[in-house]
Amino acid sequence: MSKKITAAIGAVLLAALAACGGGGAGAAGGSQGDGKITMGFSQVGAESGWRTANTKSVQDAAKSAGIELQFSDAQQKQENQLKAIRSFIQQKVDVIAFSPVVETGWDAVLLEAKRAGIPVILTDRAIDSDDTSLYATFLGSDFVEEGRKAGKWLVDNTQGAVNVVELQGTTGAAPAIDRKEGFEEVIAARPDIKVVATQSGDFTRAGGKQVMEAFLKSTPDIDVVYAHNDDMGLGAIEAIKAAGKKPGVDIKIITVDAVKDGMQALANGEINFIVECNPLLGDQLMDLAKKVVAGQEVPKRVVTEETTFTPEQAKAALPERQY
Ligand code: AHR
Repeated sequence: MSKKITAAIGAVLLAALAACGGGGAGAAGGSQGDGKITMGFSQVGAESGWRTANTKSVQDAAKSAGIELQFSDAQQKQENQLKAIRSFIQQKVDVIAFSPVVETGWDAVLLEAKRAGIPVILTDRAIDSDDTSLYATFLGSDFVEEGRKAGKWLVDNTQGAVNVVELQGTTGAAPAIDRKEGFEEVIAARPDIKVVATQSGDFTRAGGKQVMEAFLKSTPDIDVVYAHNDDMGLGAIEAIKAAGKKPGVDIKIITVDAVKDGMQALANGEINFIVECNPLLGDQLMDLAKKVVAGQEVPKRVVTEETTFTPEQAKAALPERQY
């Protein structure tokens, strides 16, 4: 083979490798050639205590792992996440991680990332796509299981007819869809438990309060509130008190998350049961990012371990609670 042809093949191979970009940066990591990994991270927003704890966990973990974090807050808007991801692609980051605000509508932008050779990690929330090659791994909770745990407590701790109002999370978001599904699956065993009203409070305290105020006016005989997160449950507590009723006694409350404020309300008897959703995903995320950038195999799904809390368990856990 002539020297010219060998050089040409070499150049083509080098170009192909370069096109692989961040997807195959090698064990040293970092497409900038300085060995440092840059992660573009698109966060949902700052809607809840859970989210604040999750953001801190990711930022702290990036620092400890020596990963440079390009952080973007989407303020709960998918269009902002799409912009952020496209900007990360332009910047040629080594890896993109994001917590999708809603489940659908990601295929096009993730295909752009794939074509640019930038691996994507889903964290906290999943996407609804048939093409699982669009992301390297998904790290987060099993939200359906969380809904099942909430339903099981209700089935085990009530008798006779029970009227439930449901405060749903953000419409179209994985935790809202899955927590509803898991809850309904379990309470189906008790036809006397009825969800008499259900509406989104957008995972915020203000949203939970506003929707609960409306429920209290429109729906007689509410026995139980099932709130998809602590913040909406805390908003509901304010509305119930303002209506002259006792939260946790006149109306029982079940929530998901177990952030400090929720745990305190549980310990005080204003919430009756909390299903934990762990926001401290930062360290695991950085480990996965290093492996993915180095081209190592990672599991397609990493599920977070979680528990549940009764008021007594909340009292015991509160002094050590980090978030
Ligand atoms: O995706 C996790 C959920 O998002 C949390 O349970 C909720 O508090 C947050 O807003």
